[in-house]
Formats: sequence, C-alpha cells, structure tokens
Amino acid sequence: MYTLDRREEVTSTNDVCKEMAAKGTEGKYACSAMEQTKGRGRLGRTWVSEKNVGLYMSILERPHFAPEVAPLLSVAAGMAVVHAVKEVAGLKAQLKWPNDVVVNGKKLCGILAEMELEGNHIEYVVVGIGVNLFHKTFPEEIKETATSISLETGMEENSMFREKMEKSIVKWWETYYNQVLQDKSIRGFKEEYLGLLANYKEKVRVLDPAGEYTATCIGVDEDGSLLVKTEDRIEKKVRSGEVSVRGIYGYV
Ligand code: BTN
Repeated sequence: MYTLDRREEVTSTNDVCKEMAAKGTEGKYACSAMEQTKGRGRLGRTWVSEKNVGLYMSILERPHFAPEVAPLLSVAAGMAVVHAVKEVAGLKAQLKWPNDVVVNGKKLCGILAEMELEGNHIEYVVVGIGVNLFHKTFPEEIKETATSISLETGMEENSMFREKMEKSIVKWWETYYNQVLQDKSIRGFKEEYLGLLANYKEKVRVLDPAGEYTATCIGVDEDGSLLVKTEDRIEKKVRSGEVSVRGIYGYV
C-alpha cells in the first residue's frame, strides 16, 4: 500500500521525497503538490510548476538492484502515466523514447528520476512525474511541442480529476515497478512498450555526442536501449542517458 502525501506548496516534490528518505522513510511513499517553486526538469532545466495547473508528483523507492537498472524506473513511470491517462482522461498516449509521454505528437508528461548511491548500493530512487493537466498556453520555447489534458480534451480545471489521476498513476506505477524489480529489465512489458513507442519504425535523429546521425528505430532491448538501423544499414544500440533522439520532422 502506497502513502500519498498531498501538499500545497513545495520547492520540488523530488526534494520532499529526498527529505523523507533522509528521515528513514521506506519506499512506497508518494508526494504530490499543487505548486512547485523550484520544479526541476532533465538536463538542469526548470520545470515551470504553476499553482493548480499541473500534476507534480514524486515516488520514493528503495529497490534492491544494481544502479544500472535504475533508468528503467523512468520507463516504468512512463508506462504508468500512459495507462493513467487512458483510464482517467480516455486519451491515447504514446511514449517518446525513453520515457516522455506524448499525445498527438506533443509532450504531455516529463519524468526526472534521481538516485542516491552509497558506493555501488542504491540508497533510494526518487521518480518525479510532471503531467500537464490544465494548461491553456505554454511558454514560447515549448509551445509547438507541449500539450495538456485541457488542450486535448477541452476539460477545465478540476480537483477530482487531479486526484483520480494521481491515484491512477500510483496504482499503475506499482504494476510496472514490480516488474522491473522482479526482472531487472523491461522483459515483462517489452512488447507493450514497443507498441506504445511513437518512434518505432520511424526515422530518428540520434544526438550522439560522438556524432549525430539519422537512423530508423527497429526495436528496443530488454535493458531499455533503443535499437536502430543507420542509413548505411548498420544496426546500433542507443543507450538512454548517453544520447537523446528526436523525430526528423519534429519533436517525436
Ligand atoms: C523533464 O524535463 O522532462 C522532466 C520533468 C519532471 C518534472 C517533475 S514535476 C514533479 C517532480 N518534481 C520536480 O522538480 N521535477 C519532477
């Protein structure tokens, strides 16, 4: 059974989970907030977290597996959000590798996982989930690539909806988290993940620091890597964390 700790204003729900971990809280703890004053995105970016507009939630776990497995928890969170969005909003969402949740090709949800290590042992993992709920507009830089539940469905701000979404995410999280915990891979849901992957069989631009290239996505591996075939017909494995991918015509 998960604890869902609802707060009004926090710096970041990831910070709250870290504080709870420092106090000795075991896993299965989730914190959500109506507003974040220092919401964080990936790559040191800010996650704008205005009051009442988005869903801001983080989950604290203490998994017993090697640190290399931890990135798969972001994939598990992406799967959970896809199911919750279907269950609560009736929207068909997809995933942009490895774990952005997209609707109609635009980003609906981002995930920021942070891990605390003691040597090679995981002390805890915090998986932060930001879902765009009631946004009517977005800042100029992301307005072409972001969407929200309101923009997709016409829904107005609604606290019942938010609560249902939070509960549903935690419910589905448990399903996918347990599979990663058991298999230490995405073996149990690899086919489902592939079916949800917006990039599958599409051309992607691989932003590899060693040199960018264009390739076609041909699958995913059990360790969460993207399998691609380059224009020279060479098959490559793209590891998350090392490189990112873009669609060649847009964000997905
Ligand atoms: C991304 O850049 O795509 C990841 C965004 C993650 C945002 C969520 S909102 C809840 C949690 N708290 C944070 O400060 N960040 C994550």
